[in-house]
Amino acid sequence: MDRRVIRHGVTDSTSERAFAALAEGSASHGDVHLASAQTAGRGRLGREWSSPEGGDLYASVVLLPPPPGYDPVGLTMAVGLGVLRGLERLGGAELALKWPNDVVDDDGAKLAGVLVESRGLQPNAPHYVAGFGVNVTRTEFPAELERERPVTSLALCGVEADAERALTEILSELEASLSQLADSPHILCSAFVERAGLYGGELEVQRGSETSRGRLLGLDLDAGLCLATQAGEELTIPLEHVSALRHI
Ligand code: BTN
Repeated sequence: MDRRVIRHGVTDSTSERAFAALAEGSASHGDVHLASAQTAGRGRLGREWSSPEGGDLYASVVLLPPPPGYDPVGLTMAVGLGVLRGLERLGGAELALKWPNDVVDDDGAKLAGVLVESRGLQPNAPHYVAGFGVNVTRTEFPAELERERPVTSLALCGVEADAERALTEILSELEASLSQLADSPHILCSAFVERAGLYGGELEVQRGSETSRGRLLGLDLDAGLCLATQAGEELTIPLEHVSALRHI
């Protein structure tokens, strides 16, 4: 993947900058939009992504077609794995993935988040922007964020790093996981399942307002999430319908 890094300093959102470059026709596959702070950083489900200046990582990568087979769920899994492995290369230990887009520490505190978006510029050959935010040096968080869920940073995990190094390690792992998504998606799915600790025990799956429970039989980009329910049935749920997934 070519790596043109476009540095914005303080900007609204690196993903917004990536979409602006796509709209004006200046974007290339692999372009990385980087910010030192974001004034309108966004997360999943329309949430805000707290993005102050001070050393955390805010980056978005442009992904142009081909290869085929990209879809938002597979991409989110591949980017999550890339971020997780990149942070491990920096010395992060006992990190895990949490469906669909979080990297968490061993207590489940959120260290990084991934947001894959497409704007239907070409419905048959979608353009994607994969944004990721990593809490690198921060040791304090807004109270409303901490009320929502536990949060952490590399610094709080005892890892000394800066955003540039974190970006370098993540981009190299991202390249590998995106190739895996294109060439052997089943291996990527297995890696995700393992790093999200989904095998063994009962899972609770949120699908819209519906909740299902069961033991994981398999996870496949085409077939979806396959569960063995307590009633002895097999239940398959398309991955794009799975909004939350946790052990109970
Ligand atoms: C989430 O956990 O909900 C996803 C968070 C994604 C945040 C990153 S920071 C860089 C890029 N720009 C944004 O506005 N959001 C993503």
